[in-house]
Amino acid sequence: MGIIVEQKSEKVTASVKWVLEDPKQKEVWWPSEELKKMAWVSDESIYEQADKDPTAFWANRAREGLHWFKEWDRTYERNPPYFKWFVGGRINASYNAVDRHIKTGRRYKAAIIWEPEPIDEPARVLTYYDLYREVDKFANVLKSLGVKRGDRVGIYLPMMPEVQIAMLACARIGAAHSVVFSAFSADSLRSRLKDAEAKVLITADGYYRRGKVLNLKAEADKGVEGTPVKDVVVVRRAGLDVDIVEGRDHWWHELMEDADAHCEPEAMDSEDILFILYTSGTTGKPKGVVHTTGGYLTQAYWTSKWDFDIHDDDLFWCTADIGWITGHTYSCYGPLLLGATMLIYEGAPDYPEPDRWWDIVEKYGVTIFYTAPTAIRMFVKCGEEWPRKHDLSSLRILGTVGEPIDREAWLWYFHNIGGGRCPIIDTWWQTETGGTLINSLPGIGPFIPTVAGRSFPGMRHAVLDENGNKVGVGGSGSLVQLSPFAPGMLRGIYKDPERYKELYFSRYGEEIYYTHDGARVWDEMHNIRLGGREDDVMKVAGHRLATAEVETALTEHEAVAEVAVVPAPHEIKGEVPVAFVILRKGRQPSEELAKEIIARVTKAIGPTAKPENLFFVPDLPKTRSGKIMRRILKSLMKGEPIGDVTTLMNPEIVEELKAKVGYVEAGLT
Ligand code: WTA
Repeated sequence: MGIIVEQKSEKVTASVKWVLEDPKQKEVWWPSEELKKMAWVSDESIYEQADKDPTAFWANRAREGLHWFKEWDRTYERNPPYFKWFVGGRINASYNAVDRHIKTGRRYKAAIIWEPEPIDEPARVLTYYDLYREVDKFANVLKSLGVKRGDRVGIYLPMMPEVQIAMLACARIGAAHSVVFSAFSADSLRSRLKDAEAKVLITADGYYRRGKVLNLKAEADKGVEGTPVKDVVVVRRAGLDVDIVEGRDHWWHELMEDADAHCEPEAMDSEDILFILYTSGTTGKPKGVVHTTGGYLTQAYWTSKWDFDIHDDDLFWCTADIGWITGHTYSCYGPLLLGATMLIYEGAPDYPEPDRWWDIVEKYGVTIFYTAPTAIRMFVKCGEEWPRKHDLSSLRILGTVGEPIDREAWLWYFHNIGGGRCPIIDTWWQTETGGTLINSLPGIGPFIPTVAGRSFPGMRHAVLDENGNKVGVGGSGSLVQLSPFAPGMLRGIYKDPERYKELYFSRYGEEIYYTHDGARVWDEMHNIRLGGREDDVMKVAGHRLATAEVETALTEHEAVAEVAVVPAPHEIKGEVPVAFVILRKGRQPSEELAKEIIARVTKAIGPTAKPENLFFVPDLPKTRSGKIMRRILKSLMKGEPIGDVTTLMNPEIVEELKAKVGYVEAGLT
């Protein structure tokens, strides 16, 4: 069986045993006895039990975890490719996240601890009772602005408690929120507000990032132009002197002064929309992923509780920004539904120095920490001396999400942050799935670098080959989800049923959800290793971005005749977009022009989408029918063998491109 080593640390009690069979291939860790004893679930039979009748399993979970004003009539209803959960049930998200707790001993427990970026600014702590009052007040503010059940409200805020307050206030009165990442540009904001037909926008004057104050209000002002937004509520965060448009703009604190601190929660239908979150697909236009109430909350509650083993005395910190699904589910709904204490942080991970996060962990005694591989890779580069400056012994569970985590980053995280005693929960999921789907559970394991784990109890996934046949152990293919679909899955794309069908339910038919991810069945337990996207979606520093979106932005520059964007590997960000540009006749390549063209992307999407490199090229590899062969460009950037180019209309261009990008064949990985 190989060597069994027990990792011990004097400060901690929960050690993790690890079994090393083949150092290169099979590093497998299992939970310690202490971890098992403490965990909400530690008996493997949970998987089998849940799988016998997933519908009944989820009905029990929904009943046990949430308060329903009225129980549902039917648990699961199928009408492929559509499905519903808890049909006829009545529920309110904010009631479950806040009101329930103020009737218990959690009334004065910290709900949110907010760490601002400036180091000399004190933290803000909101108890559940504070949160209750703020949410109710802001719900009344929204009502006073004419927001009604069924309306949409835009939220464009940095990480600060007002974001959770605003989201829960929307949920309280039955309005759907649509949060837009605060680092997205005005153009991005505008297209989302328009598509969602938002009535009101909630934003801030500015916020801190790496010691600078960013003027968010100026972006918001440009972003609301030409949208149906009638009122803008502005949180005073940075003390900026911003323009206030008479009749349209209102200061948050002024509206809150007069607001009543009681607002009855609406009894929403389980299938009423809770929120819309825009995400990148394969086209140039982001799509509004629709999540409804009862099913989403059920999945948020149970995945938070079991994946991260959150108990009442834990301090949970998910570092994701609220602008992404991870922020929605694990920096808002999940932990609050559980009545947990969560931490949120406004700023950059390495400000003022690369130990800011570890300083926060130590200062507050964070016990569960959830982040992305891109951040870990950045810390690997900074060096282990930074975490070593801090006592991280409060940590007991670590999580990761957003992209495949490589073995080196996994091991670094495990040893340098987790001290070799904290399991790493590698959660695979998507904006579309609302909550996590595939990962090992802390009390069960196994924890294997680069292998996420198996389906959460009550969920079913398979890896299919091109013909739709299930592949066996060791086989690779496309990852799919099988019915009954997880309760938190998307119910549609806002105002675009065709795209919903085409993207998720056409590859393998209307009964099978296609994830767009490649995967490998790792072992007999059906643990899964994820292999990255099969479509033209990139993960840039964990942020989801379509190559087509970047292309659309670049073609807007009048000098650009044709463009292709592909992902290139990047040491820290995982992937970055690079652009190949053919200029219009008469235009000369120059450094200046490259900068100008790239600036289009910052304007159209935001700085996170900026191409890392732009190559001016005379031509692009094309098929005889004139289609750009992005596959070849991708291989060029990855150093993969280029393969057969004889089918190209212009095979000679490949050599030229190789020279341009400095291609070195690294072989297949
Ligand atoms: C990728 C983020 C490997 C995957 C919650 C998926 C992952 C896309 C993992 C969704 C993981 C997410 N291991 N890949 N643990 N988690 N992904 O919508 O390609 O921003 O399809 O949701 O991220 O990205 P999204």
